[in-house]
Amino acid sequence: MKLFEPIKIGKVSVKNRIVMAPMTNHFADKGFVTERMVSFYEARARGGSGLITIEDAIVDYPIGNNTANPLAIDHEKYIPMLKKLSSTIKSHGCVPMVQLSHAGRRAGRVNPDTGCIETTQHRLPVAPSALAHPFPGHVVPRVLRVEEIEAITEKFVQGARRAVEAGFDIVGLHCAHMYLIGQFLSPWANKRMDDYGGTLENRMRFIINIIRRIKREIGEDFPLVCRMNGAEPEGGNTLREIQDIAVKLQSAGINALHVSVGFGPVLWEKGFMPAEAPIGMPEGCIVNLAENIKRVVTIPVITVNKIRHVDFAENILQRKRADMIALGRALLADPMWPYKAMNNKAAEIRPCVSCCQGCVKNIETGNPISCLANPLVGREYEIMLDRVPPDSVKKILVIGGGPAGLMTAIIAAKRGHKVSIWEKENRLGGEMHLAMMPPRKQEFRELMEYLIFRVNSLGIEVKLNTLAGARTVGHFDADAVVVAIGSETMMPTIAGIENSNVISAIKAFEDEANVGAKVVIIGGGLIGLEAAESFSQKGKAITIVEIKEDVGSNMPMLVKIPLLITLQERGVNILTGSSVRKIDLTGVEVEHGGTVKFLDCETVIIASGGKSNHSLEEQIRSAGKNVYSVGSSNLLGDMLAALHNGFHLGAQL
Ligand SMILES: Cc1cc2nc3c(=O)[nH]c(=O)nc-3n(C[C@H](O)[C@H](O)[C@H](O)COP(=O)(O)O)c2cc1C
Ligand code: SF4
Repeated sequence: MKLFEPIKIGKVSVKNRIVMAPMTNHFADKGFVTERMVSFYEARARGGSGLITIEDAIVDYPIGNNTANPLAIDHEKYIPMLKKLSSTIKSHGCVPMVQLSHAGRRAGRVNPDTGCIETTQHRLPVAPSALAHPFPGHVVPRVLRVEEIEAITEKFVQGARRAVEAGFDIVGLHCAHMYLIGQFLSPWANKRMDDYGGTLENRMRFIINIIRRIKREIGEDFPLVCRMNGAEPEGGNTLREIQDIAVKLQSAGINALHVSVGFGPVLWEKGFMPAEAPIGMPEGCIVNLAENIKRVVTIPVITVNKIRHVDFAENILQRKRADMIALGRALLADPMWPYKAMNNKAAEIRPCVSCCQGCVKNIETGNPISCLANPLVGREYEIMLDRVPPDSVKKILVIGGGPAGLMTAIIAAKRGHKVSIWEKENRLGGEMHLAMMPPRKQEFRELMEYLIFRVNSLGIEVKLNTLAGARTVGHFDADAVVVAIGSETMMPTIAGIENSNVISAIKAFEDEANVGAKVVIIGGGLIGLEAAESFSQKGKAITIVEIKEDVGSNMPMLVKIPLLITLQERGVNILTGSSVRKIDLTGVEVEHGGTVKFLDCETVIIASGGKSNHSLEEQIRSAGKNVYSVGSSNLLGDMLAALHNGFHLGAQL
């Protein structure tokens, strides 16, 4: 396979064509590499990636921070732990590279809760020009004076020197995603009239000076990689200019180009791909941008963004569309992706479903990343999943074959327990079938199929069409019983809720024939919006009524914004800050700001939260069994919670 052919980046040989894309993870501690971070990267190195790109390391902390808790490289004190990180990666035969970064104006977002710019620790961010990053909440940055630009250039140079001292084999420069270097490069953000603005030559002065001076400091032949944008928003660089930038970077001595895209996780221009293409977007959606660059340079070109399948990645290389494949989220979901690909075990890869729920969403909210599909992300240093000793093997009965039950069963069986699953339906998957009903969410099917594959490969006994009751469970000789029966819709107390025209979102998905042409959805969370998406696609007229001032507040922006755009295009009416007063057979009465109005409809869909039913658990407990309960409890539709709860229970049993 081409994927496993070695390649050279400058003087450095990389054993295969798989690059781990840089991913800020919030595992740093005040800029320092932590043991948690080392274990996180080590798992990916062990998994067989050829080149591991360490996330953005900030060359000017905190004013250049990309998030509130990034990695830093602007002081000697960071070197020892950076060294530990690079040597750990090398010990697995991987090449470590660190990406030097400065966020410029993108750091200047005011936290609406505190009114502060936490990313820069309350400093006004700096930029080429006095233009705020165009997303609500960003402040107008302070314009950099020429001597300050020189000083930041030197900070990149010193960052590169520290990277070399810390044992990294390649230094990366973040020129993409409209961070500071990208801001200088792009007329979208750079309106300067001096030597650093105007012509492309002037806009490139900052990066070219950085490259020249880094080379002077660490040696002409030390490999350098630039990450660059392959497309820009209107008013930014044209394709011709982007290609010119690539050619000039090669002439300046850059040894590989990593072609990405994007200008902020929360900014969306219709038709413009974000840096992390979410669920529903096509696989390999920006490979064409790498191809554009490959046409004009001779150095290796790396492509990225939603490359998920081994065949797809191989095909890109075979067709010479790019020279290397960067995987970000795919390696969060399964660090062993390269190993499995190489050993003909592609079917065993745990798929990323592009939900952004555990990764991007946590970056947005300032938390350490996790992963819906892989609860071990960021916990590699503390959870071992060792096999239990033979005298501790338990017989475990899991009631319910939904996400929480499947995950509990898999982890417990992996640890050596003897596990049986009883599922009342005629198929495994439970709520996952619901999750993949919305048109964009077919990727969830792959995750469900993976979990079922694991159940089978671990030899877990599965009994379908088996309704568990206290008596049948009592007769089953289990050391532990896990009740994983999911949750049911919590029907709000509204006059008319019992009417025949009122159904839960789950029922609506299961029995679409019962949904009329005019629909009111009560609840504008994830499930309500997805129900609106599904039924508006089928031509139904939809109104969503949400009591809060915002809809989809539990969703990552990257998933929410395109969904809202779709709903808007389909004429879905969204009433926020509105409460339902009563329901009758002809519609729903709502109140908004003291005004009452009546919404005619044929069907009312309840998409509010869920509630757990503990009665089975209690009955089994009273029968003297050792019982655990797991699932999304009151978080109906929260797949991440269901899978993570199942994982942690499976690890404890
Ligand atoms: C949690 C997370 C953090 C990221 N942090 C960075 C970063 O620090 N620097 C960067 O250049 N790109 C960053 N990215 C973008 C990724 O490098 C990559 O381009 C993107 O995730 C698309 O690739 P994928 O579909 O394989 O994940 C981040 C992406 C994710 C999901
Ligand atoms: S949280 Fe979702 S998008 Fe992010 S890596 Fe995991 S499965 Fe993929």
